[in-house]
Amino acid sequence: MKPRVFSAMQPTADSLQLGNYLGALVQWVRLQDTHDAIYSVVDLHALTVAPDPEVLRRRSRATAAQFLAAGVDPQRSIVFLQSHVAEHAQLAWLLSTFTGMGEAGRMTQFKDKSAKVGEAGTNVGLFTYPILMAADILLYDTDLVPVGEDQRQHLELSRDLAERLNTRLGEGSVVVPDAHIVESVAKIYDLQDPTKKMSKSAVSPKGTIEILQDPRQVAKNIKSAATDSDAVIAFDREAKAGVSNLLTIYSALDGRSVEQLVADYEGKMYGHLKVDLAEVVVSYLTPLRDSAMEWIESPARLDSVLEEGAAKARTIASATLARLYERVGLVAPTSRR
Ligand code: AMP
Ligand code: TRP
Repeated sequence: MKPRVFSAMQPTADSLQLGNYLGALVQWVRLQDTHDAIYSVVDLHALTVAPDPEVLRRRSRATAAQFLAAGVDPQRSIVFLQSHVAEHAQLAWLLSTFTGMGEAGRMTQFKDKSAKVGEAGTNVGLFTYPILMAADILLYDTDLVPVGEDQRQHLELSRDLAERLNTRLGEGSVVVPDAHIVESVAKIYDLQDPTKKMSKSAVSPKGTIEILQDPRQVAKNIKSAATDSDAVIAFDREAKAGVSNLLTIYSALDGRSVEQLVADYEGKMYGHLKVDLAEVVVSYLTPLRDSAMEWIESPARLDSVLEEGAAKARTIASATLARLYERVGLVAPTSRR
């Protein structure tokens, strides 16, 4: 039996951005070789931002399409929509009764997000979001969770909950998951403000590289990336955040190490680096975009992949939930005894 990997993304934009791709999706694809992989579009999580219903539906399919285009292989891996497997919401409830208020209140992403929308705009779902995420992970007896740096604290909560369940309900209740965070690409920064992470909800669209964006716009964004005034191509996360980010992206896509790139570009200008990088990114993203568009344009085919994925996911999830329901002391319906 191979170890299990689980990860997920929210359908909160029409296109994923390069940070999602390098920080997470590339690892998802790699891990399929060594792990039993399950990947989900977490549409229930996306409800916390009150999306327009039609937009949410479109983005849920588009997000799944981008998983497949990036190389997630439905022959080998389970790909599904979270809302198709009722056990996610059910386990989240159970886990919420194991989570302390203070513990949930310490989540920095909740603090950031709620500060942005203000108290009136903050729903309880935003607060319990990390508990639903823990449910996603624990339902599948997950060993490894490939994510970007911003999910580290949420993963820590999932681990704490898993350990608590094993202590209170008995060993073997759930598997304690490990985070899989690849440091070099765990945080891709905004091109315009390289102190902030690249995000689907960036202030300036020029700071983001979207997977489904027109390649000319991608090239433009890279060429107008913020750098510094000392005109030396070197890697220094603090002093040269912009250039360092470009080198990180370049290295991830091109395969040359950052050190090698620095050596290769010695004495050259930022413009030179940007022009070359734009070409690398565009030629990398073009087939990905074409394949994603094909999936988006065949929703019936896509829906059938998701349907099959959900059926497989349900089998695993229902066994875990039944085990935990039994252990917490719920009476099993006669049909399940
Ligand atoms: P989200 O878009 O928040 O659902 O994120 C999906 C995945 O992409 C998560 O594993 C994030 O940690 C990862 N991710 C998002 N933004 C970045 C970024 N700028 N750099 C690296 N990873 C990221
Ligand atoms: N919270 C994650 C994010 O915003 C998405 C997510 C939900 C997730 N459930 C998960 C990631 C389970 C990994 C495992 O990126």
